[in-house]
Amino acid sequence: MGTLRLGDKAPDFDAETSEGKINFYDYIGDGWAILFSHPADYTPVCTTELGAASKYKAEFEKRNVKVLALSVDGVESHKDWIKDINETQQTTVNFPIIADEDRKVSELYDMIHPNASETFTVRSVYVIGPDKTIKLMITYPASTGRNFAELLRVIDSLQLTAYHKVATPADWKPGEDVVISPSISSEDAKGMFPKGFKEVKPYLRMTPQPNLN
Ligand code: BEZ
Repeated sequence: MGTLRLGDKAPDFDAETSEGKINFYDYIGDGWAILFSHPADYTPVCTTELGAASKYKAEFEKRNVKVLALSVDGVESHKDWIKDINETQQTTVNFPIIADEDRKVSELYDMIHPNASETFTVRSVYVIGPDKTIKLMITYPASTGRNFAELLRVIDSLQLTAYHKVATPADWKPGEDVVISPSISSEDAKGMFPKGFKEVKPYLRMTPQPNLN
């Protein structure tokens, strides 16, 4: 598999997980998915990350996003480690963790970056849309835990911009004004954005978030 890029079809796979065998596409169903890798079980940053992701379960569900984690350790290791995560992070891990011992999925998704580590996966994040294409990919090194609030914010932007001809500006948060896509003329924008818009520059037009009352 070559390098994956935005817009590419997310490769399907079967995998062993902490919750039994899954098929990726069956697991996602018709909704969105976040697939994220971590370097290894029983490591400190990963323990906090999986705890954080578990606590956001209701937020992921609200957005119709299925969560799936991965490391190259085995099922029994995952199951034992989950007990530690639950205990130390005061949560219950509520999504499967892929046991990618043969690195099939890691290789499919280019999660091993040999100049960072020959053996462990980096902290990759893939967000996959209902059409099974890759909507977002970000990569963190082992030493930096991810910000799950940021991942939710990005998913909010992806879901908004998938259905409306807008884009979200720097540091945007749900509820704040958005920008009108450059492909829309200001003439057409008048009909498309009944709440109106402010033309700061011909290419920079701000409008209230369209899917809010
Ligand atoms: C961690 O999750 O804490 C971690 C994993 C690999 C290298 C460094 C930190």
